[in-house]
Amino acid sequence: MKRSIAFILSGLLLLGLCACVGTSSGTIEPLNTDAPEQTINTPDAAEPSAAEQTDGPDVTEPSATEQTENGSGVLVVYFSRTGEQYGVGVIDKGNTAVVAGMIAEKTGADIFEILPETDYYPYTYNELTDIAKKEQSENARPAIRGELPDLSQYDTIFIGAPVWWGDWPMIMYTFFESVDLSGKKLVPFSTHEGSGLSGFDKKLASAVPGAEVLTGMAFRGGDCQNNKSKVESSVSDWLNGLGY
Ligand SMILES: Cc1cc2nc3c(=O)[nH]c(=O)nc-3n(C[C@H](O)[C@H](O)[C@H](O)COP(=O)(O)O)c2cc1C
Repeated sequence: MKRSIAFILSGLLLLGLCACVGTSSGTIEPLNTDAPEQTINTPDAAEPSAAEQTDGPDVTEPSATEQTENGSGVLVVYFSRTGEQYGVGVIDKGNTAVVAGMIAEKTGADIFEILPETDYYPYTYNELTDIAKKEQSENARPAIRGELPDLSQYDTIFIGAPVWWGDWPMIMYTFFESVDLSGKKLVPFSTHEGSGLSGFDKKLASAVPGAEVLTGMAFRGGDCQNNKSKVESSVSDWLNGLGY
């Protein structure tokens, strides 16, 4: 397993990304309870490719983690990193954020973005892989910015993140251990570039023994930027299978 993760990561590193060092920072989507679709529709013009993007996108510094309240009983929680990303250049909406928005739109769920206290956004992809590796080897619990959500009104929580070194990013464990997820139905999802779900479901079940973990789904990161209709169709099929 370690060898295959190392292989994938080596591949990612060797394939290399363009040297477009982002001046990027994270964004918080303007979450609108009346029009959840506004949280997911990123105009094509706002999707820079590696070839086109030389300057970082015009983004807003995140100020706080936000949450909407649609009263659906369903919440989507996600972590996603904007900035320089593998295979897609500098992006102003992370791959996992794209999937999270689709899930929220199709289920009528509220949405909550986990933001790190210390931004990962200014780093290049290669720098970030080193930081993430160190966090993992130290079993770190990076701090989450802002208030954590009140989960009492939610029965089902979709939880998504990018695969980082074959695992949840360590900040997700901060989340798992900082809120009460016992008794909830948890639905994990990942975005990745080859590792699939990477055991997110089993790792989540271990981290939150009192929760019921439902069938998860993995999405290719690059598709979230360059083939959204494919991702949308996979999200729909998956949600239909879950009864949505
Ligand atoms: C630090 C780091 C580690 C990664 N490790 C893996 C990995 O082990 N397996 C894999 O398939 N992709 C890996 N990737 C690729 C990301 O999972 C993929 O690009 C993902 O879609 C990024 O999602 P985001 O834009 O929401 O952050 C890694 C990316 C980063 C930045």
